[in-house]
Amino acid sequence: MIDHSTVDRIIDAADIVEVVQDFVPLKKRGVNYLGLCPFHNEKTPSFTVSPSKGIFKCFGCGKAGNSVNFIMEHERLTYPEALRFLASKYHIDIVEKEMTPEEGAKQNERESMMVLSSFASRYFQENLFQGEEGMAVGLSYFKERGFRQDTLKKFEIGYCTDKRDAFTQAALKAGYDKEYLVKTGLSIDNENGLFDRFRGRVMFPIHSLSGQILGFGGRVLKKETKTAKYLNSPESEIYHKSRILYGIYQARKAISQFEKCYLVEGYTDVMSLHEAGIENVVASSGTSLTQEQVRLIKRFTPNITILYDGDAAGIKASIRGIDIILEEGLNVKIVLLPEGEDPDSFSKKRSNEDFTSYLKSNEVDFIKFKTNLLLKDSGNDPHEKANVIKEIVRSIAVIPETIPRTIYIKECCLLLDIPEDILYTEVNKLRKQKVFLERNKYPDPKDLPVIPPEVKKEFVAHEDTLPSEREIIRLLLKYSAKEYQRITHKEEGSEESISVADHIVTEIVSDELNFENPDYRRIFDEFRFAHEQGSIVEELFFVRHGDPGISRISADLLSDSESLSRIWVTKQTYVETEETKLLHIVDDVILKFKADKINDKIKEVMEELKAAVNAGDQEKIVLLQRKDHELKQVKKIISKKLGDRILL
Ligand code: CTP
Ligand code: MN
Repeated sequence: MIDHSTVDRIIDAADIVEVVQDFVPLKKRGVNYLGLCPFHNEKTPSFTVSPSKGIFKCFGCGKAGNSVNFIMEHERLTYPEALRFLASKYHIDIVEKEMTPEEGAKQNERESMMVLSSFASRYFQENLFQGEEGMAVGLSYFKERGFRQDTLKKFEIGYCTDKRDAFTQAALKAGYDKEYLVKTGLSIDNENGLFDRFRGRVMFPIHSLSGQILGFGGRVLKKETKTAKYLNSPESEIYHKSRILYGIYQARKAISQFEKCYLVEGYTDVMSLHEAGIENVVASSGTSLTQEQVRLIKRFTPNITILYDGDAAGIKASIRGIDIILEEGLNVKIVLLPEGEDPDSFSKKRSNEDFTSYLKSNEVDFIKFKTNLLLKDSGNDPHEKANVIKEIVRSIAVIPETIPRTIYIKECCLLLDIPEDILYTEVNKLRKQKVFLERNKYPDPKDLPVIPPEVKKEFVAHEDTLPSEREIIRLLLKYSAKEYQRITHKEEGSEESISVADHIVTEIVSDELNFENPDYRRIFDEFRFAHEQGSIVEELFFVRHGDPGISRISADLLSDSESLSRIWVTKQTYVETEETKLLHIVDDVILKFKADKINDKIKEVMEELKAAVNAGDQEKIVLLQRKDHELKQVKKIISKKLGDRILL
């Protein structure tokens, strides 16, 4: 048994493009990658990989899944074997043992902490936008700084009131355990009882890649306070500072789309760039990047551009930290902002066009930037210059690919005005000295940990019984959290907004309908559970599901979605996407599902009726005939409703 958090780490690390590319050459097509399917014979490529979703799908043979599914299928491994295989590739340690009751508890603990964090975020948001103090203090602060409301909503910014324990009390009252309040760090426990960690601060929730809230940063507003400007959630079972990038959830689509990730320091820098129309941006939260953070970015793009405040001391201090990015094989560029400006202040002084064009025209390659920066200070002193060369060699030596390494050597020799062979010798010396981890190579089979024998189980997808079942699950997976306006009482013309998931779940539960296909039933049950808990299922939750069968089906359905939306756009005379007609589509599908279920029921009653006739059970015959009649009435109503609609 591999524990939950290790599985998460493996799935986080195992970049789908990287994993597939070890076996299948891929070409970039828009935001996706395309190649020849390794699972069936084909001449024109129909095998698609989506880095932002972390899934593959072959439109020829229908195989689909996440990176673990790919390895299972390609290497013919079981689920735990595939996990170990990937863990070994990415140097992730696996603790190998049966899940003890304590471990089970830990898994529950993580889930409880996330549910609480999501409650807290909603509570803080309500404070900011509706609370008296929140509006007077928090909201006006952001207004003064020039932030727009839609940006605050996009980042789910909130406010924690300046009372001792207002939040803690609200959470306890809502039924959350003291234990998790303390473990998430939202509350602090001392001899005088529980109190709010973040009181009097504006709150920045920190999301995982899939949108779950893992922790918070809270900023003080009062200028004269002695406490730190920012307080962050403490390290916990769910919040690991070194693995988190602020803004990655809001940025991930744009990073793939523009094939670049901007890196800034602070929460407000990220928000400001969004306001300037630049969404492919994340923040390191004031520290230098860790390897895990770099790999997170690498899943989406090999190109990273760092925005530097124009302050020389700060740059010098942080320049070493950048080698870790080069070491992962990424292309690093730098944009230096004018003296005294950070991305937040500078973007606010310029128009969006000016700001964007500043970034474009001031972007320079990191190694060249570093060389020039160090050279400027060294003057003509030979000893100083030798130090500069040493520094540059350090950076070049960590670059894993030979070609870029060679190009850098050539370029830097020109800048440093030294013969090439000196740099070659120095770089090679360093490379030999260091034991370089062959990070991106698969381990030799003999180096793989010895695996206890396990019964190989072939995964069998359950047969689709009804197309409407599949369609409902597809809509749930794709649009669950999306909200649409629904006119409820025509005469009053009042509108209410409801999420797709809540709408579907309510409709199906109220009619007591069931899913035939057990996999769909499981997915649906999780949605129903979330609905009952008042929480939402995050977008990529099922693609990353711990059950490989579920992740495979989800990847399959989500890929179907993509092609469907595309057909929509091309076949219509005007551009209309599935999303714009969502309410109709969902209503239609629910009706079809109901019609399918009624037909099944009618068939069932027919069978029973036959049996009753054979047995001569008069009473039962009458009963069943009545039932049949009722069912057919309902069927008529549904058919009429379906027929009345402009079918899509
Ligand atoms: N930071 C922190 N703790 C602090 C100071 C800073 O964790 N005491 C982190 C925060 O993530 C912050 C980032 O470092 O966003 C950058 O710090 P700074 O530039 O001081 O803050 P800004 O984000 O620019 O915030 P503001 O513009 O509101 O001052
Ligand atoms: Mn700032």
